[in-house]
Amino acid sequence: MGVDLAVTLGSVRLNNPVMLASGCCGYGMDMEPHLDLNRLGGVCLKGLSMAGSEGNKPPRIWETQGGMLNAIGLQNIGVSRFLAEKAPKLRTYGTAFVANFYGHTVDQYMEAARALGEEPALAALEMNISCPNIQEGGIQFGTDPASVYKVTKACRGATKKPLWVKLSPNAADVAATAKAAQDAGADALTCINTMPAMAIDVERREFRISNKVGGLSGPALKPIAVRIVYQVAKAVTIPVVGIGGVATAADALEFILAGAKAVQVGTALFVDPQCPYAILRGIEDYCARHGFPSVESLVGQVKDGAPMPKCHE
Ligand SMILES: Cc1cc2nc3c(=O)[nH]c(=O)nc-3n(C[C@H](O)[C@H](O)[C@H](O)COP(=O)(O)O)c2cc1C
Repeated sequence: MGVDLAVTLGSVRLNNPVMLASGCCGYGMDMEPHLDLNRLGGVCLKGLSMAGSEGNKPPRIWETQGGMLNAIGLQNIGVSRFLAEKAPKLRTYGTAFVANFYGHTVDQYMEAARALGEEPALAALEMNISCPNIQEGGIQFGTDPASVYKVTKACRGATKKPLWVKLSPNAADVAATAKAAQDAGADALTCINTMPAMAIDVERREFRISNKVGGLSGPALKPIAVRIVYQVAKAVTIPVVGIGGVATAADALEFILAGAKAVQVGTALFVDPQCPYAILRGIEDYCARHGFPSVESLVGQVKDGAPMPKCHE
């Protein structure tokens, strides 16, 4: 008998656990020359804001050991243009599209959630909370449990769509931010966004990217992300989606064993845009080989005897 690949994240059912990550596949259709979107579990679209953004000036990307830095600056066409120009085409697919969105104030998040929440093409909304809150001195929403609660609660009240909160690895206590999002009504948590990082060209004595600081993604991020998925899955009852350096089936399986019900693939798409197919095939083979009838039955199945030690050095 075949392996059941479908996974359920609250009220959202994915045909399989492999999704594309926000910012790495545009508004979905950009991937069409490489991928049949209907064969994927879902697609997270580029982060949207009410006003849109032209992004940062170049250079905006730098390849580094084990990954890359990016400071695109959340370039996007804005919610209204997305709804008018992109969403109608997305309605014709059989995959789950998730709109990623952000703001710089609670009201901006709320407005975006309200507007995107009316769009039938979208299976869920994913809040990017790794953004500075300009009303609170520029501190990232995602680093402070009280801010996470406030912005999630506001968006919860603005839409009936399933609401996913994408956590920042930059929080001192990520289990606390995860619980704050759950308490405020989040339906699922995505772990994690990029890690702030820097690279310098020593000959020129210049920063590699114009913004100086960029987000680290790719293989270097994976062990951090797996640890966070594990901690968050233990701390909450809502489903967790794993993300950070997934490039192979073995990477995806680490996240699933740590407690993720689905994974998202980002940076690896720039190397091989068709890698989601191999990842999915590998997950299926693994389940068959190890006697798991479904992906759901594998979630959180790392052999987990003793409680996690407090000090790890
Ligand atoms: C070029 C680029 C653009 C991104 N844009 C967004 C975005 O708009 N919103 C968001 O929540 N995450 C964004 N991310 C973060 C990814 O969705 C993902 O969380 C991160 O890259 C880690 O996964 P990966 O190692 O598989 O790339 C972006 C990442 C990259 C590399």
